[in-house]
Amino acid sequence: MSQPRVLSGIQPTNGSFHLGNYLGAVKQWVDLQESHDAFYCVVDLHALTSSPDPKELRQNTLTSIAQLLALGVDPEHCTLFVQSHVPQHNQLGWIMECLTGFGEASRMTQFKDKTSKVGNDRIGVGVFTYPMLMAADILLYQADQVPVGEDQRQHIELTRDLATRFNSTYGNTFRIPEGYIMKEGAKIYDLQEPTSKMSKSADSLNGLIEILDTPEANTKKIKSAVTDTGREVKFDSVEKPGISNLLTIFSTLSGRTVASIETDFEGKGYGDFKGAVAEVVVEYLRPVRTKTLELLDDKAHLASILKVGAEKAEEVAAKTLADVYERIGLVARG
Ligand code: TYM
Repeated sequence: MSQPRVLSGIQPTNGSFHLGNYLGAVKQWVDLQESHDAFYCVVDLHALTSSPDPKELRQNTLTSIAQLLALGVDPEHCTLFVQSHVPQHNQLGWIMECLTGFGEASRMTQFKDKTSKVGNDRIGVGVFTYPMLMAADILLYQADQVPVGEDQRQHIELTRDLATRFNSTYGNTFRIPEGYIMKEGAKIYDLQEPTSKMSKSADSLNGLIEILDTPEANTKKIKSAVTDTGREVKFDSVEKPGISNLLTIFSTLSGRTVASIETDFEGKGYGDFKGAVAEVVVEYLRPVRTKTLELLDDKAHLASILKVGAEKAEEVAAKTLADVYERIGLVARG
């Protein structure tokens, strides 16, 4: 029997991914690649919505690929590619746009958040149509599951709605995908503002743990994480959001249960606890940073992985797109 399929994507917006990207998504990518037919992409076209500098975008895309490899994504066990290398993403993206209602797209919370920050006049149309391109990414590969963090839930719902709408209008074409969202780690919070998600667009970078940052910088950020009043190391996301966030990070990286960590720190203070979290994070990330820098030294190797990935991805994507074109009545080129 063939394995169920997964697809996911990540933006190359920054030089480094952050801990939320890893715990919410990439860690699951690594786990699922053994048991699933996995497609993972760096979504450079999505990153264009934030108008990146061309040189930085090119560099960040390669850094993203190197980081994924260093974090354990294995091209022997999955198809790893860059979104813009497979033109069918844009082609199906347009069809998804034609299928989406204006009101429906206007209700996407990420779009509303961005417009409320910078205003309608300064926001590109790409931010508005972003979820339709994401739907195309997923549907092209007939994915069963999509491993993502909590903040992508609404986009997956839209993808499901669009697939269902297409299938009922034009006949069964797309598999209806499901989000694969963990209970623990799907939302990692900012260390300085533990009620907001960890994000590269936060006002201050002090609450952001970057995978490629130096061990010293990350230790400092964790040791100065905002904690709560009281002394007890106990998981309580309402009363103790800061400590709970650190407990989640500790637990997911060490593979230990939250309860056993709580027991270890009974009678000890927050200072000891933060020191231990810093050690777990820094030791986990140390080899990842080294490996990423090593991989970035061999651009030809990265290019050869991406070439194979694009070819494998395009084979699947072209088949889905041809089927879609036919069903919606476009005349075949001949
Ligand atoms: P992006 O690049 O913003 O984030 C990549 C992944 O990281 C997750 N994530 C988090 N998880 C837990 N805690 C956090 N603080 C946190 N911040 C980010 C995200 O949920 C995501 O899974 N739209 C997507 C990229 C995309 C995509 C796709 C994903 C494009 N096409 C197709 C899946 C399938 C995005 O902007 O992710």
